[in-house]
Amino acid sequence: VIIVGNAAVGKTCLSFRFCCGRFPEHTEATIGVDFRERSCAIENELLRVQLWDTAGQERYRQSIVAHYYRNVNAVVFVYDVTCRDSFNDLSLWIKECEKHGLVSDGEVPRILIGNKCDVECANKVSTDEAQMFADRNNMALFETSAKSASEADHVESIFLTLLHKLQQSKPMHVQSQGERQQKEQERLILKANEAANLEEQGFCC
Ligand code: GTP
Ligand code: MG
Repeated sequence: VIIVGNAAVGKTCLSFRFCCGRFPEHTEATIGVDFRERSCAIENELLRVQLWDTAGQERYRQSIVAHYYRNVNAVVFVYDVTCRDSFNDLSLWIKECEKHGLVSDGEVPRILIGNKCDVECANKVSTDEAQMFADRNNMALFETSAKSASEADHVESIFLTLLHKLQQSKPMHVQSQGERQQKEQERLILKANEAANLEEQGFCC
């Protein structure tokens, strides 16, 4: 899962909240891409979720972040509800994703998170406006706060909702126990065949 959005909208804090269960004391601007992981049981399947927490700063977008769109199964767009620029720039982030083949055809689930709902602010991006944008772009909208303890369950359920979508989507690599055993067997047979071939060719180790 790749997380994108402007600098300082709270991508690192949201991924930290989900993977580490708390709001980080200190965060620094992400350089390039950070990686966090968590295992979740979704409908009797164990999913190992890898979150790619990308840098929002312009200088890393092309040089580093661009390389991480490959093999992405889901996208989380984040904006800061108290920062209109971060909302306005969402269309640029969507374009960037589409440039890398992550389109809104439903195959790669995409969600939109408006973060920092705990902050009092006179000119917040309104829910109606954000909802219209989300509808136009075929995404579910969630407004929450990585910081507020009372929103911790909400952050959890947002990511779990995405994981449910992921599990139902085509490119997922969810394996049942049987599939895993079969894959392991295939791997062992392949290894045995390779060893036999090497022996036939007269190599030894
Ligand atoms: P880049 O790595 O530069 O792209 O930024 P980012 O999107 O990862 O932002 P980060 O998670 O580092 O958070 C930026 C600042 O916002 C930090 O000072 C956080 O403490 C603060 N912050 C993040 N989430 C929240 C939130 O939900 N509420 C409040 N009040 N502050 C938040
Ligand atoms: Mg960050």
